[in-house]
Amino acid sequence: MRFALLVVSVFACSAADSSLRVALYVGSGSNAGSAGNFSEALAQLVARGVLASFDSLADADVGAKLTPSAFDVVVFPGGSGSGEFNAIGEAGQAAVRAFVAAGKGYYGTCAGGFLALTATCCSNSTHAALPGYCDGGVGCSNKTDALALIDYAAAEPWDRGHGMVSMIYDDNTVAMLKLDPAVYGGGRNTSVLYYQGPIADRAYPSKGYTSGATFTSEIHSGHPNLTTGQMIGTTALAYTTYGEGRVLISIPHPEETVPRLNDVVAAYVLYAGKAI
Ligand SMILES: *[C@@H]1O[C@H](CO)[C@@H](O)[C@H](O)[C@H]1NC(C)=O
Ligand SMILES: *[C@@H]1O[C@H](CO)[C@@H](O)[C@H](O)[C@H]1NC(C)=O
Ligand SMILES: *[C@@H]1O[C@H](CO)[C@@H](O)[C@H](O)[C@H]1NC(C)=O
Ligand SMILES: *[C@@H]1O[C@H](CO)[C@@H](O)[C@H](O)[C@H]1NC(C)=O
Ligand SMILES: *[C@@H]1O[C@H](CO)[C@@H](O)[C@H](O)[C@H]1NC(C)=O
Repeated sequence: MRFALLVVSVFACSAADSSLRVALYVGSGSNAGSAGNFSEALAQLVARGVLASFDSLADADVGAKLTPSAFDVVVFPGGSGSGEFNAIGEAGQAAVRAFVAAGKGYYGTCAGGFLALTATCCSNSTHAALPGYCDGGVGCSNKTDALALIDYAAAEPWDRGHGMVSMIYDDNTVAMLKLDPAVYGGGRNTSVLYYQGPIADRAYPSKGYTSGATFTSEIHSGHPNLTTGQMIGTTALAYTTYGEGRVLISIPHPEETVPRLNDVVAAYVLYAGKAI
């Protein structure tokens, strides 16, 4: 299976800049399936000359090694957003913010998206009535366990379940990312694995990011009476700037979809690193 994937992998961006040095967080807050797929995808991109290098960073490595002179993009995979935040510690948190502010790139998926957020929202007080959500609050509360790289608030309850969903890319984003329009353009659905990533709260008035894709189906098996209807029409891909750098968060998991969406992973890394 792995051999087959290598053979059929097609990178729309294989002619792009090959100078990017990518750091992948693989520490205790990450999930092995997401981090493992990123490792494979990034190694293939290095082998093809699309990226210059990639290195795996454990928890303490983020604070110790993630500098603008050493890397161009940091990737935070799935896992737990607050788990990743706490695992990298204050030195890691400061390093990520300084890295992106200095002009480098942040690409987070699912938990890596949560890690970048500003707030969790309990726009509906029924959510806040669930013990353990929203710090017991009602309305939006500033997250104390996220980096605030993107002005985006996640709807609660976060544990809505997982499964395959569909999303549709905006054609301008397909062009910007140099994705194949015959595959991703023209309002076509793309099937992708969703695993409890941060769904944008519709009541939060953020205008601080661009939505590059929209969910056209949803998962609400976790709390059906609270989350039904929350996901369809919300963003599946959000991007913005922080300081001089780019921040891109993917709500679902292109890297963990089977077969892996290698071209999407490549495009997101290259975009975060300003190579496209
Ligand atoms: C990639 O993700 C799939 C789906 O979750 C999983 O079965 C597979 O083991 C992962 N691969 C690696 C190398 O972690
Ligand atoms: C909360 O949910 C109820 C029932 O779905 C709805 O009528 C109400 O408008 C929601 N409140 C907010 C603030 O979204
Ligand atoms: C969140 O933080 C911002 C900036 O510090 C502040 O202006 C705002 O009042 C805070 N919101 C809440 C609900 O605490
Ligand atoms: C995309 O998928 C959704 C959910 O299955 C469906 O309702 C919609 O019709 C599809 N759109 C297109 C253009 O295929
Ligand atoms: C949601 O549904 C479950 C069971 O279906 C029920 O136990 C629970 O009280 C409901 N919660 C709310 C907030 O309505």
